[in-house]
Amino acid sequence: MSLSDCRMLELPKIHDPRGNLTFIESDSHIPFGIERVYWVYDVPGGSERGGHAHKGLHQFIVAMSGSFDVVLDDGKDKKRVHLSRSYNGLYICPMIWRELDNFSSNSVCMVLASSKYDEADYFRDYAEFMKARWS
Ligand code: TYD
Repeated sequence: MSLSDCRMLELPKIHDPRGNLTFIESDSHIPFGIERVYWVYDVPGGSERGGHAHKGLHQFIVAMSGSFDVVLDDGKDKKRVHLSRSYNGLYICPMIWRELDNFSSNSVCMVLASSKYDEADYFRDYAEFMKARWS
C-alpha cells in the first residue's frame, strides 16, 4: 500500500441539458464497499483538515462543490492532488498520511469510507505512523 495505489478515478457522467448526473456504485466504480459517507463543509479560509492516517480504512474523496487540495504522504514520498470536479475523485488506500488544505469558499468535501467511524483505526501522531509504516 503506497502512494502509487492512491489515484484519481473517473466516475460515470450522464450529460443532460437539464443538468449532468454522476453516480457511484459500491465495488464497481471504487475499489471497496461503502459503509459510511461524511462530508466537510463551512470550512473557514486558510483552514486545514486531516492530519492523520488510517490503519485499515479505504476512502474516496470528491469535491462536490468548490475545490481543495489533498496532500498524500506514505512516509517516503509526498503528492499534492487538486480536487475541483464532482465527476471524479481521489482513492486513498490504508496507511497513507493525508492533509487537506487550500479550500475555496463554499467547498464541500464528500468522503466515502469502507468502514464505520472507529477512532482506533487512526494514526494521529506522525512519528507513530512512520514507525508502524517503516519499522
Ligand atoms: P477527523 O476524521 O479528525 O476529521 P478530518 O479528517 O476531516 O479533519 O474527525 C473530526 C471529528 O469528527 C473527530 O472528533 C471524530 C468525529 N467524526 C465522527 O464522529 N464520525 C465520522 O465519521 C468522522 C469522519 C469524524
